[in-house]
Amino acid sequence: MSENFPFKTLAELRSRRWFADSGMRGFAHRQRMQQQGWRRADMMDKPIIAIINTWSDMSPCHAHLRERAESVKKGILMAGGYPIELPAMSLGEVMVKPTTMLYRNFLAMEVEELLRSLPCDGAVLLAGCDKTTPGTLMGAISMDIPTLFCPAGPMLNDRHVKDGITRSIGAGTHTRIFWDDYQAGKLSGSELQSLESRMTRSPGTCNTMGTASTMTAIVEALGLALPGSTSIPAMDSSHSRMATDCGERMVGMVWEDLKPSRILTRASFANACAVQMALGGSTNAAVHILAIAGRTGIDLSLDDLDAMGRRVPVLANLFPSGDRLMEDFYYAGGLPALMKTIQSELSLDALTVTGQSVGHNIATAQVHDAEVIRPLNRPVSTAGALAVLRGNLAPDGAVIKPSAASEKLLRHSGKALVFDSQPDMLAAMADDMLDCDENTVLVLRNAGPVGGPGMPEWGNLPIPKKLLKQGVRDMLRLSDARMSGTHYGTCVLHISPESAVGGPLALVQTGDVIELDVARRRLHLAVDDAELTRRKALWKAQVSNYQRGFTQLYQRHVTQAHEGCDFDFLQGAAGTPEPVIF
Ligand code: FES
Repeated sequence: MSENFPFKTLAELRSRRWFADSGMRGFAHRQRMQQQGWRRADMMDKPIIAIINTWSDMSPCHAHLRERAESVKKGILMAGGYPIELPAMSLGEVMVKPTTMLYRNFLAMEVEELLRSLPCDGAVLLAGCDKTTPGTLMGAISMDIPTLFCPAGPMLNDRHVKDGITRSIGAGTHTRIFWDDYQAGKLSGSELQSLESRMTRSPGTCNTMGTASTMTAIVEALGLALPGSTSIPAMDSSHSRMATDCGERMVGMVWEDLKPSRILTRASFANACAVQMALGGSTNAAVHILAIAGRTGIDLSLDDLDAMGRRVPVLANLFPSGDRLMEDFYYAGGLPALMKTIQSELSLDALTVTGQSVGHNIATAQVHDAEVIRPLNRPVSTAGALAVLRGNLAPDGAVIKPSAASEKLLRHSGKALVFDSQPDMLAAMADDMLDCDENTVLVLRNAGPVGGPGMPEWGNLPIPKKLLKQGVRDMLRLSDARMSGTHYGTCVLHISPESAVGGPLALVQTGDVIELDVARRRLHLAVDDAELTRRKALWKAQVSNYQRGFTQLYQRHVTQAHEGCDFDFLQGAAGTPEPVIF
């Protein structure tokens, strides 16, 4: 147990407010727990540990989380705690429409209020598929009880044999590659059908460096997951043992009162940003990490991410920046080995859930395969995992992932082809008569936090079918949407402010010239100010289709991409009073 913090006494446990009460309420609370088989002593002398479980039948990445919850319970019981399992919204990335991002804040609210309204002394978060990680974490951080993240882990690799060559294939990245090949007539229908049933080989999250693996790694770098835990494949036996370790360690954290507010500092966020860059992580992290920091009151901005992107090269040779998968990353030493490689960029004295520092946790880590975790002098890319662009098209910022873009397009000028909706855009892309060429700049708007709504992952606009047939595989694309972390291409994303609230993207017309210069961090609409002022005077906001319910709440309170897309009323570190118990 850590010597950093004083032990908490039994009398100070939060759950005692429910169970140690000598009045009728305490009687009723104890009575109702005994109704389901608890012994009186269990709730009187043990910390109560919540296991927030985002399992569901519509979340294939979390198919194994009911079993893992049992492993967590085992660890809690062995350490002298009492586990309670609490289901939370599952958010399976592929199934939830219009987008899981619409519900990230919903999940965060659910987790915070579950932990607040029930007698929980600590929380183990079972999550991993994209938004479930920031969602559960944001809620737990706002509640600020001892919290440990238990990651779902990535799925196993698959192989594809074509023309006698065997290639590793991963979820997400290859879905787009194979679909484009199919559209271009380079892949048969039967090959595509075979891939459909094989590419996602096991339970677990996407096995490329998509949003899931990016965000779980960021949580580990923040100090809120056990060292190495986020790299373990979901179906490896050590994954179950890791879950047991999470349960066991959680009980210790309760007695040490090791809360997120004691772990998270500006230094730990800087560590997380450095890890994101070295991993070649998802652009989605730019939104989520700002939202997480926003819950702590720690000042973090897009400029901090851009500065780290300039300093730390991509070292992890993982799709979509590289050509390996998460299983390979695990065998190569996993995240501790990567962090050891970039330790000169890390604050090694930052505290973690182990009660020890980052430096202590990675002291013995080793790289076992330097092709997967490259040394600093032989990076996968020096172009950077993230660059923040500004200009008259994005006064508050936009992002691009240079390491997964085409080098020749990082400085580009071309005429815009503008779409106001996703269905219009998709229909046009299938039109063999579409007026465009490889230099055209594809623009999609009304896809931001308010306009989407929920800022869907539409930012990787498909290449027009007629150009696919000509062999074109990348074009400059712009939007106020996000892009799946598993995808690639020269896509400028998260343009802020978004078009639906009157950002300059709303004023672009087909035929306008757009200029991108990533080295200078510049995104410019070559239209003079007087003309833009004239267009702005004519612009009218669209009336929302959502006049009731959660989506109306979302559209009213979501912040812009450069602020993390949290709800304005959930930001900040001010505590919410504990519930009155009577
Ligand atoms: Fe769940 Fe990609 S769909 S992590």
